[in-house]
Parts: sequence; structure tokens; C-alpha cells
Amino acid sequence: MKDLKGKNALLTGGSKGLGPQIARFLAKEGVNLALTARTEKGLRDTAKDVSNYNVNVKVYPGDITDQSFRKKLLEDVKNDFSRLDILINNAGMEWVSSYTALTPDYIEKMIQTNLIAAMLLTRLALPDMLAQRSGQIVNMSSLGGKRGNPYGGTYCATKAGLIEWTKGLRMELAGSGVGVSVICPGFVFESGMFAEYNKKPPWISNATTPEKVAEAVIRAIKKDIGEIAVNPGPTWLIPLLDAIHPGMANWLYKIGGVYEFYRKQAEENEAKPNNQ
Ligand SMILES: NC(=O)c1ccc[n+]([C@@H]2O[C@H](COP(=O)([O-])OP(=O)(O)OC[C@H]3O[C@@H](n4cnc5c(N)ncnc54)[C@H](OP(=O)(O)O)[C@@H]3O)[C@@H](O)[C@H]2O)c1
Repeated sequence: MKDLKGKNALLTGGSKGLGPQIARFLAKEGVNLALTARTEKGLRDTAKDVSNYNVNVKVYPGDITDQSFRKKLLEDVKNDFSRLDILINNAGMEWVSSYTALTPDYIEKMIQTNLIAAMLLTRLALPDMLAQRSGQIVNMSSLGGKRGNPYGGTYCATKAGLIEWTKGLRMELAGSGVGVSVICPGFVFESGMFAEYNKKPPWISNATTPEKVAEAVIRAIKKDIGEIAVNPGPTWLIPLLDAIHPGMANWLYKIGGVYEFYRKQAEENEAKPNNQ
């Protein structure tokens, strides 16, 4: 999809973190935006932020894990924008803690939000995209989907699921006019779920910025790229090493400060009252 001007995109997770930056980059390209998340105020702030780009922006507050909301969302977007060209499954949640400190409900909610909502929203959007023989689905995964993090295994499982599902669907849809991409950022600073922890990222992580993530989304759409790793450098040694020798990847996590980062954050999170 070389020229994005006048295309219509549905972006989940548009209320805070990386979403607003992705919205800005899309609007700069002339893309009309349907923004969704639970927090209406955050969505309205994002809409206001992109108002000078002369694109059509509408907000749809709701919980993406709710199938009736997802159905209504797709119907409303179709009515308001006439067709959908781009779906960006960006909404996500994470809570760093030891596995047994997570409640079963929370584990289920994380899988629903990060993986199942993306799959089912795509299931709803895809038939029209296939009929129009044009569209792009972009799934927001993570470096954690390439190699599990300590104290973050559930999150990483959802992100690994997104990567493999993207690969399979992409092959299946080849030649249909609909592309599927997955973006794998490592640590992002300035804003987003890890920035909220207000900690220095581990030295090995080559933390990136929300702008770089948004740039990757635009590149994936324009060039129909299957997978983009956002953070450069030694970070990418981790999944490579993991494939060759998992023990060495563990060692790199330890000397790179990743293990300690998550261990400390888990300790802090578990000490918070009413955590999760
Ligand atoms: N930040 C990083 O370092 C980083 C690194 C790699 C990958 N990622 C991925 O990038 C994506 C965005 O992350 P972020 O850093 O921007 O996180 P964030 O700041 O926590 O924002 C998450 C977004 O998802 C929405 N969301 C969460 N649960 C939802 C639900 N049940 N229904 C509807 N919307 C929901 C939130 O909106 P409401 O709360 O208003 O509903 C918010 O807009 C995620 O998929 C994340 O896994 C982030």
C-alpha cells in the first residue's frame, strides 16, 4: 500500500503509550483514523492531537476483549468510514510479577487482550478486506515474543502467539491483496508500559522510542513487510542465541541486566496493594 493518503485505519490501544504516536504518524500520511481503547478521555486527547492533519478521526471507547463490543466496533467503523484499509492490533497489557502471584483471572485477561482480541478482531475485519482485495493487518508483538522473559512469561506467550499466527496467516493470504505484518519492539522509553516503571532499561536492550515504533508500523504497511524488529544491536543476539543454545541466552540475560530488571520490578509490583 504505497500511498496511504485517504486510507482508513482502525487502531486499538489509541488512548495512551505508543498508540498516540502511531496515530500521529498515520495522520501525517493522510490516513483517516478510527481509534479505540477503554478510556474515552485518552482517545479524545489523541484525536485532538492529530486534528491539524486534516484527516477524519473518530473514537470508539470500549473493551476489546468483549466480542459484542468488537462486532459493534467493526459495524460502526464500516458505517462511518465506508471501508477499512488498515487494522492495527496494538492494544496490550503487561504486569511483571512471579507467575504464581498472578491470579487466574488476570492470566486469562492478558491472553484475551494481547492475543485473542487481535485474532478475533482480524477475523471480523478480514472478509471485507479479502472482498476488496486490499488491506493490511499490523500486529504489535514484542521482542519478548522471540524469547521469554523471567517474570513475564504470560505476556511473552501472548506475543509469541502473535508472531507465529502472523507468519501462518501471512503465507495463507499471499496473493490475496491483504498483507499481514508483525512489529517486535524491545524496550521503549519515553512512553508506554515499560516507561511507566520509571526504571533505566537494561544496557543490553538498546531501548528505542515510540517514534521508531510508529515508523516501523508505517514501513510495514507501505512495503508489506512480514516482520520488523525495532531495536537494533545486541538485543537481537538474544533470540538468535536462544535458537542455537538456550543456556547462552540465559547467560546473556543475566550479564545484560535483563534478569535483574524484571526481578526487581516483580518485587516492587508484588508489594503494591491491590496489584493487578
Ligand atoms: N512499551 C514498550 O516498551 C513495548 C515494547 C514491546 C511491545 N509493546 C507493545 O506495544 C503495544 C502498546 O503498548 P504500550 O507500551 O503503548 O502500552 P500502554 O501504555 O499500557 O497502552 C496500552 C493500550 O492498550 C489499551 N488497552 C489495554 N487493555 C485494553 C482493553 N481490554 N480494551 C481496550 N483497550 C485496551 C490501553 O487503553 P485503555 O487502558 O484506555 O483501555 C492503551 O491504549 C502493546 O501491545 C505492547 O505489548 C510495548
